[in-house]
Amino acid sequence: IRVALLFGGRSSEHSVSCATAGGVLSAIDRDTYEVIPVGITRDGAFVLEDDDPAKFAMSAELPSVVDNGTRILWPDSATNRELRVVDGDGIRSLGDIDVVFPILHGRYGEDGTLQGMLELLGLPYVGAGVLASSVGMDKHFTKTVLQHAGIRVAPWRTVSAREWLADPDAVAADAEELGWPVFVKPARAGSSVGVSRVSGPNELPGAMEVGLAEDGKVLIEAAVAGREVECAVLAGRDGSAPRVSVAGEIVTAAGQFYDFDAKYLDPDAAGLVCPADLAPTELAEMQRIAADAFLAIDGTGLARVDFFLTDDGFVVNELNTMPGFTPISMFPKCWIASGMSYPEVIDELIQLGLQ
Ligand code: DAL
Ligand code: MG
Repeated sequence: IRVALLFGGRSSEHSVSCATAGGVLSAIDRDTYEVIPVGITRDGAFVLEDDDPAKFAMSAELPSVVDNGTRILWPDSATNRELRVVDGDGIRSLGDIDVVFPILHGRYGEDGTLQGMLELLGLPYVGAGVLASSVGMDKHFTKTVLQHAGIRVAPWRTVSAREWLADPDAVAADAEELGWPVFVKPARAGSSVGVSRVSGPNELPGAMEVGLAEDGKVLIEAAVAGREVECAVLAGRDGSAPRVSVAGEIVTAAGQFYDFDAKYLDPDAAGLVCPADLAPTELAEMQRIAADAFLAIDGTGLARVDFFLTDDGFVVNELNTMPGFTPISMFPKCWIASGMSYPEVIDELIQLGLQ
């Protein structure tokens, strides 16, 4: 089975995507799958990459896809699955591909745009479709859809750049009403890029500037007091119900939040505990909500559903339709704790993409 593994991309999570790809390249079952590694540079060029997991390990020097001058040519019709590459020697066929595995986080990868391109080209792919990807990418619409489905989310207010510039005092009054501290988050970003914890009105302008640098709209969200717990979802085979893993928990030091550095650069800054210490009834409740949330956004393939466990129950923070899955990430950890190996998770994802 020939898999085009797509990674890198134009979003602020370019390096995270490369690290995830490194994990997959090192673990994918080579007897079953032939991999064509396709990198996307930060400028959006599709290049033929090296099949070298070590090149994409997360380190202080964040991994990235560098333009090596090659260019991938996508199929020229929806009935053709041949990938070609242009390099110094001219145009060369890479053969027909069976499935595309877009390991892309953030905009232009996890937001439905790439999925739309693959739909147009008639290529099977792993993960969420166009709608679930775009809903999952946009925190405003994720929360709106979940709320409509009767799933609890943290109170929030969405603010556009225009609204902020026109009347910052009105925005500050809304934040005040939510109650300090609040979180300011770009609507469409991931890995905590552009997210700030704001403990009072003085910190709001700086946080809005950081958030609006990532996206034209931000969410101001009430901070939720509770444990941060997550679980992993895999779609069911052949239309059966989604499967949900055991829960994992993120333990951060008091006053800290699980930001980009804690996620990828300083793994000691936050502990990932899996399985999380939950009562069986709590876990069952969490798994039920995760499956409901996955179905509410029309999920396919996979997702990681992030929650807060508060004194009066679960609140969904967000869904990620292409969560990070380096071998130390929460998505595979949750499945490993549920009895699957990392290569089996990859295999399952590809098989879901093929069906
Ligand atoms: N957005 C990152 C990759 C995650 O959710 O794991
Ligand atoms: Mg996210």
